[in-house]
Amino acid sequence: MSRWVWADIDLGAIRHNVETLCSIAAPAAVWAVVKADGYGHGAEQVARAALGAGAAGLCVALVQEGVALREAGFDCPILVLSEQPTTELTSAVRAGLELTVYSYSQLEAIAVAGGRDHPVHLKIDTGMRRVGAAADEALALADAIAESTAVRLAGVCTHLAIADEPADPYTAAQIELFDDLLSALAVACHHPPLVHAANSAATLAFPDSRFGMVRAGIAVYGVSPSAALDHLAGPLRPALSLRARVSHVKQVRAGDRISYGLRHRFEGSTNVATLPIGYADGVPRRLFQTGGEVLIGGRRRPIVGVVTMDQLMVDCGTDAVAIGDEAVLIGSQGGESISAAEWGDRLGTISYEVLCGISARVDRRYSAA
Ligand SMILES: Cc1ncc(COP(=O)(O)O)c(C=O)c1O
Repeated sequence: MSRWVWADIDLGAIRHNVETLCSIAAPAAVWAVVKADGYGHGAEQVARAALGAGAAGLCVALVQEGVALREAGFDCPILVLSEQPTTELTSAVRAGLELTVYSYSQLEAIAVAGGRDHPVHLKIDTGMRRVGAAADEALALADAIAESTAVRLAGVCTHLAIADEPADPYTAAQIELFDDLLSALAVACHHPPLVHAANSAATLAFPDSRFGMVRAGIAVYGVSPSAALDHLAGPLRPALSLRARVSHVKQVRAGDRISYGLRHRFEGSTNVATLPIGYADGVPRRLFQTGGEVLIGGRRRPIVGVVTMDQLMVDCGTDAVAIGDEAVLIGSQGGESISAAEWGDRLGTISYEVLCGISARVDRRYSAA
């Protein structure tokens, strides 16, 4: 190990989570969303574990992500979740990546890129207002797909905006509109082999959203999509923990101040441990101001002073602490644990952003336990 900073990734947890999702979603298939390097967990390792546990396919955000998986030997269905720059489509077609479409220009570009009977998923915007064909354009686009020899309709899909807040009626309205559009497509003889709408939150909370497949991301990693879904996410196991070893120890006195800006002042003498991890690794600078803690010796300890680029400091009180002691930033130690969601709450964000923010310079260590 080159650094005293690493992320443990439990591939056994990934397998367990995918098996759990498969049984929840059945008979719908589970496609594991491994974009953004598997939400920071490692796309290839997660993909292998997920497929081994029953996932039927993979979803990525970028053509490069899909091509990298093909080059690593994955021959399963891989879906790119939104339209791509035309410059990427030749690679996508060659790699046999299934492509999401919602415009005539993308359909034409797939033909120019050499597509022949290439599988595409027609994405319809039922309320997310991010990407997708408008509801009143969907039928004409499906017709255009049917008429083209470059593509074939492999799927019809939509994306839900607020499934992580299950009390909000908006999700039911999105599903109802999607159902109506599927009926209109069927009347026009469009029968997509796959229909999909659900992310993790919808998979857990909205049975009507599961259709033929679900696109599960955060739940694959064992993290609840939101606090409102914690009761449904109970069987999932977090796969990632973020750890470091104490690299320096010192005693400070009452009145001493610490780190850039000297924003923390010690009330009494105390043992301070330095950890060689900072914001360049994905620990946000402001985690100090928002009460961030780490675990050392099985107890919560406050971060003191602003987090710097490569290092942060922790108040260990009167407890003995030594160079080389293990610290847990996300994960469990003793009876205590700190979750990515806790960071998210402190930082005004969500666990997704915390996990994706753990940078590439943090070693990932895999265990299959
Ligand atoms: C289109 C689409 N489907 C599915 C997902 C997976 O979402 P989640 O991680 O909430 O399961 C995402 C992730 O952002 C997405 O963009």
